[in-house]
Amino acid sequence: MTNITATEEFEQFEAATIPKEALQTGAGKNYGFDYHYPLVSRSPEIKEIYSLIKKVAKSNASILITGETGTGKELIAGLVQFISDRANKPFIKVNCAALPENLLESELFGHERGAFTGAFQSRQGKFEQADGGTLFLDEIGDMHLTTQAKILRVLQEKTFSRLGGNRTIKVDVRIIAATNKDLWEEIEAGNFRADLYYRLNVVSLTIPPLRQRREDIPLIAEFFRLKFSREIRKKTLGFAPETLELLTNHSWHGNIRELRNLIERSILVTEEGKSIMPSDLSLPGKEYFAAGGKDRRQRGIDEGMFSCKTLNLTQIEKEAIVKALEMKNFVQKDAAELLGISPRALNYKIQFHNIRHSSWKKNSE
Ligand SMILES: Nc1ncnc2c1ncn2[C@@H]1O[C@H](COP(=O)(O)OP(=O)(O)OP(=O)(O)O)[C@@H](O)[C@H]1O
Ligand SMILES: [Mg+2]
Repeated sequence: MTNITATEEFEQFEAATIPKEALQTGAGKNYGFDYHYPLVSRSPEIKEIYSLIKKVAKSNASILITGETGTGKELIAGLVQFISDRANKPFIKVNCAALPENLLESELFGHERGAFTGAFQSRQGKFEQADGGTLFLDEIGDMHLTTQAKILRVLQEKTFSRLGGNRTIKVDVRIIAATNKDLWEEIEAGNFRADLYYRLNVVSLTIPPLRQRREDIPLIAEFFRLKFSREIRKKTLGFAPETLELLTNHSWHGNIRELRNLIERSILVTEEGKSIMPSDLSLPGKEYFAAGGKDRRQRGIDEGMFSCKTLNLTQIEKEAIVKALEMKNFVQKDAAELLGISPRALNYKIQFHNIRHSSWKKNSE
């Protein structure tokens, strides 16, 4: 078994399979953040988005990014920041859907001591933290109307006060907002302010779903194959033609995130030094056949159980372990409990079956 380190051979291979012109990044390397992973694409729509980003990044114009879940909205927001003049300044993200209205306001604008019960200390909000940089308002379509009004005021006046405070604070913040909702529908339904929409939508980027740019599927799949193979130091040969056909025909409602997760898992179960076969993918049964799958399924991760085509006990054990690990986010202790064995026994079996995962440092060295 060959362990792959970042050898020259591997890097040359990578350079050869992912053409440079398909890597849209500020500088062509990743910077340790997820945001700065290259935006891999050869589709004309994404290239157009990228050239628009390059034109507007250096201005302070607000940007509204729309697109289905997993299409890369956050990645693109990070890329804008990265190629702007604000690259060395903070990039602060707020998920507007995650917090109830009053908490979101204190999160955004900060509060003074005693502003509300439990406010024992004054706190800076995200607007202040992002001063000089970019504030990424994610899931803006879920923001409450009263918070929308406050954001609008900050955008117009560039000043605000902390909750419970009367000091006027001035900030220089570039706003990038993202949503997977149709904001026009939200405006018509009375859930979103049209005036805020126009403020945010100075530059509008609409990211097409993966199924509308199928030429990107093999390319991005290959990118993630290389990335995850390298991470767990497992050499895989590439995708078998049947596998590529399945991937290309799949509907990808979870878009690139779904593709990424699927490839990560397939690298985990594929035999070292072999091509990735259709049975190594964990496409749900219905999708698998709809996408033209012919082989009988070997594995499934959607339901609580998995099915095996084999009666080979060693193979069944390996699949049960992988399944349990996936269900427990690769936390060995939790997976062991699910499997009804001790963590030590599980660790032994993990070594035996040569199962690897990037979150297990020791194991992948
Ligand atoms: N073109 C691409 N090339 C490489 N990786 C990509 C590309 N587009 C998206 N990704 C990756 O796919 C994953 C999902 O992307 P991201 O989080 O930006 O999606 P999103 O549109 O913000 O999704 P959501 O609406 O669910 O928040 C991330 O891991 C991101 O790095
Ligand atoms: Mg997102």
